[in-house]
Amino acid sequence: MDAKVEKKSLNWADLGFQYHKTDYRFSAVNVDGVWNEGELISSPTLEVHEGAPTLHYAQQCFEGMKAQTAEDGRILLFRPDLNSVRMNEAASRLLMPEVPRELFMRGVEEAVRANYAWIPPYGSGASLYIRPMLIGVGENLGLKPAKRFEFRVFVSPVGPYYKQAGLAVISLAVSELDRAAPRGTGSYKVGANYAGGLLATLKAQELGATEALYLDAREGRFIDEAGSANIIIAQDDNTLITPKSSAILPSITRRSLMEIAATTLKMKTEERPIDLRDEFASFREMAACGTAAVLSPVGRVWFDNAWHDVNGNGDSSGPVMQKLYDELIGIQRGEKPDPLSWLHEVEL
Ligand code: PLP
Ligand code: COI
Repeated sequence: MDAKVEKKSLNWADLGFQYHKTDYRFSAVNVDGVWNEGELISSPTLEVHEGAPTLHYAQQCFEGMKAQTAEDGRILLFRPDLNSVRMNEAASRLLMPEVPRELFMRGVEEAVRANYAWIPPYGSGASLYIRPMLIGVGENLGLKPAKRFEFRVFVSPVGPYYKQAGLAVISLAVSELDRAAPRGTGSYKVGANYAGGLLATLKAQELGATEALYLDAREGRFIDEAGSANIIIAQDDNTLITPKSSAILPSITRRSLMEIAATTLKMKTEERPIDLRDEFASFREMAACGTAAVLSPVGRVWFDNAWHDVNGNGDSSGPVMQKLYDELIGIQRGEKPDPLSWLHEVEL
């Protein structure tokens, strides 16, 4: 690949979180348990049998990652090994074949490299979103696993998930609907968890919130997560807490932020059940975090028919979330040291 290929003339700084058709995507097929080599293709559409289990029974899982351009032009992925592991956990849960790590990485790297012209440049604030997916295709009417699967990786340049760039303050509304049961599929990145959340998000937005916040399905007391992001909370005594729950997606961003908090910021970190109503008054800062969301401070939360400002101020972000955000994106963009080798460079 000629690394000097000209970039597309997009208005990078104005991008939102939307699909842009790029030139190539990677596709590999598994038939009766055997993966083919996979290849880059140009068509963004799939021809899927009308009886495919992915369409009827949601036999599918996906991942979300980002590639960033460093100041020196390197293309950087953030902890892609963890996405590979998580995809395989979901695959096993839904009786789909695992995608070997080598195939996963090759698919991601080839899709990124082939779409070099679409990778937002350093300093634009935008990044290349990478969406690996695994779907059960082929004809299969009864409720049983597919015999044929496709692993596909497409990419799209994106800007901020929640509209404004940087540390935009968002609001969350506790949903009356549950996202996931304690022993269900909430901890796997499977599409089935998200279709059910569309209505919850709509209802949250009707209340003026950015996004839905889910409490635990058993008691409706403990914070689970937001519709597309995990939650972290700063308390007094230099403490950062995050919900412990079997029903939430184990966010790679959250895990990294907790590690940054403990090591770089020397904070006390704790993963434990967090009772929203009992503990809200002790929240000094609250944020949603994830690949798409990055770190988005939460200013207010709707529950029990009222808005509640975090720490009495619903409009601004605090110093802890600012530091965590700066450290995280500093590492991801290759601007800060990467002592734990989280970055993976895509060779051009
Ligand atoms: N929770 C949900 C429901 C998500 O969809 C995401 C996005 O991937 C996250 C949390 C954040 O996970 P990660 O940081 O691995 O992107
Ligand atoms: C991500 O953050 O990568 C996600 O998959 C969230 C999605 C709802 C956009």
